[in-house]
Parts: sequence; structure tokens; C-alpha cells
Amino acid sequence: MIINLLINGKLHAIEAPEEMPLLWAIRDIIGLTGTKFGCGVSQCGACSVLLDGQLIKSCSLPVSGADGKEILTIEGSSENLEFLRQAWSDGNVPQCGYCQSGQLIAATSLLDTTENPTDNEIDAVMSANICRCGTYTRIKKAIHKAVTLKNEVI
Ligand code: FES
Repeated sequence: MIINLLINGKLHAIEAPEEMPLLWAIRDIIGLTGTKFGCGVSQCGACSVLLDGQLIKSCSLPVSGADGKEILTIEGSSENLEFLRQAWSDGNVPQCGYCQSGQLIAATSLLDTTENPTDNEIDAVMSANICRCGTYTRIKKAIHKAVTLKNEVI
């Protein structure tokens, strides 16, 4: 099946089995390996991407479900993602780093919908993303810092 994916602003027409998880299309066919495989069953968030602006677990969506849709991965860019990248860097958030692309995409989705999230609002969205190194406190601080950075620019 030919599937059209608009990933980070670039159109990719790929041939793939319709049931292939979107994650494998992104990683193995298109070659964007920043999005990670963790559990494969929607439990860890390592594979998080935005699909038409919605936070999804790409391990659990058949690639056919993304046909014609817009996808943002960690290799892409958006206003909130860039403020978050800066805050992540300033706060030395990652430890092993494996989950961090998923964390950044989830945080982007949060800031896309909630301008200045409270700790509870951060927990509500970010609790779906597991970090085995336990960087949760730094992640929370970095999300607040990204809001501060954004407000300084605006
Ligand atoms: Fe998709 Fe864990 S790899 S949620």
C-alpha cells in the first residue's frame, strides 16, 4: 500500500503493509531514528509523536491510520518544541537520554494546548512517559523554564 506521510513538513510517499506500526515506518523506512521503541504496547511513551497536532504513541498506530496526515517527530521543529529544547539543555535534563525525544514531544503537546501549565497539569500529560533514570523533577522544571523563555521573547 502506498501511504503519504507529511513528516516535519516533508512529504514521504512510502510503500508499507497497512498494519505496520507507524513507528517502524518512521524509523526503518524513512530513517528518522530519534523516535524510540520502548515497550511496543502504548505503555512507555518513548515512541511519542504528534499526529495532526495530537499526541500519539506511534508503536500502536497502523501506518495506514497516518495516511495523509501531518506528523511532528523530534527531528522536526515547532515554536514550543524549540523553547523546550533550550530549557532541556539549560537544565541538563537527560540522563541516559533514551526516553527524552518522547518526553519532549509530549511536553510540546502540553504547551500547544496549555500556555502555562500547573504542576498537576504537567503530571497529567507527562505521566504517560516513563523515564527509567527518573528525570521527572528536571523535566517538570524544564517545562516551567520553557514557559519563562517563551514569555521573555513575546
Ligand atoms: Fe510506544 Fe512504549 S514504545 S509506548
